[in-house]
Amino acid sequence: MKLGVDRREAHAASTDAAVSAVFERGEKEEALPRVLVREDQATGKLLGQAWARREVKGKKGEITVLHRPDGKGRVVLIGVGPKPTFDAEGARRAAATAIRALKGRGARSVGFRLSTFVTERVPSDIAIRAIADGASLGAYEFLKYKTTHEGAVEEVTLYLGDEHGREESALKKALDQQVELLEAVLWTRDVANLPADTATPDWLAEEAKRLGKEYGLKVTVFDEKKLEEMHCGGILGVGSGSAHPPRLIVLEYSGGARSGKTVAVVGKGITFDSGGISLKPALRMGDMKFDKSGACAVLGILRAAAALKVPPRVIGVMACAENMPGGGAYRPGDVVRTYNGKTIEITNTDAEGRVVLSDALGYVVEKYRPDEVIDLATLTGACVVALGDDMAGMVSTDDKLAQGLLDASAATGEPLWRMPLTDYHRELVKSDVAEIRNSTEIPPAGVLTAAAFLEHFVGKTPWAHLDIAGPASTNPSTRKFQPPYQNIGATAFGVRLVTRYLQDGSR
Ligand code: BES
Ligand code: ZN
Ligand code: ZN
Repeated sequence: MKLGVDRREAHAASTDAAVSAVFERGEKEEALPRVLVREDQATGKLLGQAWARREVKGKKGEITVLHRPDGKGRVVLIGVGPKPTFDAEGARRAAATAIRALKGRGARSVGFRLSTFVTERVPSDIAIRAIADGASLGAYEFLKYKTTHEGAVEEVTLYLGDEHGREESALKKALDQQVELLEAVLWTRDVANLPADTATPDWLAEEAKRLGKEYGLKVTVFDEKKLEEMHCGGILGVGSGSAHPPRLIVLEYSGGARSGKTVAVVGKGITFDSGGISLKPALRMGDMKFDKSGACAVLGILRAAAALKVPPRVIGVMACAENMPGGGAYRPGDVVRTYNGKTIEITNTDAEGRVVLSDALGYVVEKYRPDEVIDLATLTGACVVALGDDMAGMVSTDDKLAQGLLDASAATGEPLWRMPLTDYHRELVKSDVAEIRNSTEIPPAGVLTAAAFLEHFVGKTPWAHLDIAGPASTNPSTRKFQPPYQNIGATAFGVRLVTRYLQDGSR
């Protein structure tokens, strides 16, 4: 999809559909709002008639499609709810709803009338970025294995009109930047959606190298032999049951500011999580191809960081392995020794994410001495139970980092909820035979005991752990409750959030 700005009035140009936002109207009779007079004119007063019949109410998600009598395409009105509570997320969802509604209706080019989306709370640059998010993410589909599909919207134009024409160059710049970010997000979805027969640890390593070449990142891949030399017993243990050996992948972006700090972004990259010897049940097991979503988010974040030249130096680490049962598989009762020397008693081979992260975190903290570490992992089903599947859980040992991420969450609409970490949880991960155990004797607080485990590998470095088990992917039954810009499958959750943090939170 191509996205651009145009100084003209939306209805003076000819797109297949021109979309305007409508705020929710009150109960008492009111005339058509002045901002919609142009729409009324373009539809030969059809809109005014629909308004008088109260057919257009402006309720959230309401879609009205009117054809222009002059044959120059359609006028689309998208309800966005009451004006005082309308925000960037509202614009994101409205744009996605409109794009989805137009799919398969022969609309190749779609225009948005920017001024109808701008309010006191939503200035023009925020609105333009949010509409771009909604249009581009809302139109996304994973089509690699489809042989037929309905025609998609190819071109989206933001019409500035008289109201915003003077801001053209600033708004064009804002949009171009957002498009760079969105391309990284869509690419992340494409990679995360790949099945495990294709996206093996080694394939992800090759993909990281391709990214490195294109964006000037230094990429280092540690294969199983190298990991052996480095004493990375965690990632080797998890990968030992698979025909596809594990890879630890490190990507370095050198930073846009001269005296910037170093932020490490670490992702869980389980290309398939069968549970291993502690085998998972069959129902929806295929969704465990999404267990690499944290590592895929790292790829996307590094691409966006390089494309947008964010100030800090960013070290991306992807801990990639396939968790399979097999003759060589690690088993409950085993003890593995990790990169930083700590030993782990394996009590459940399905709690493998924290085990691969132990080496990745231990390595990046020792080798790069980052100022901050952020990890993203589809780590626990417990997080989905606690927060639902649209929200990530956050555990952090640093209030400033946590607040920076919460601010980025509010700006991007990727929801995050901070959770506690106390000595109670730390006590639960202690082992009788090793330093720690990978699953606890009693089930409560699964998100927090997982975090207590990871804490052993970050030392004193300010750290935030994002458990993205819920929002990393959607399936047909959860999809309808998700924002309209999330398609079925991988969402690339975390790419917009962490990139936003790197852009302006991490100072
Ligand atoms: N990959 C799963 C977590 C998961 C569950 C992600 C649902 C997405 C959706 C993880 O490796 C896992 O199996 N965790 C176990 C941990 C337990 C054995 C301590 C879990 O959550 O049950
Ligand atoms: Zn697992
Ligand atoms: Zn897993």
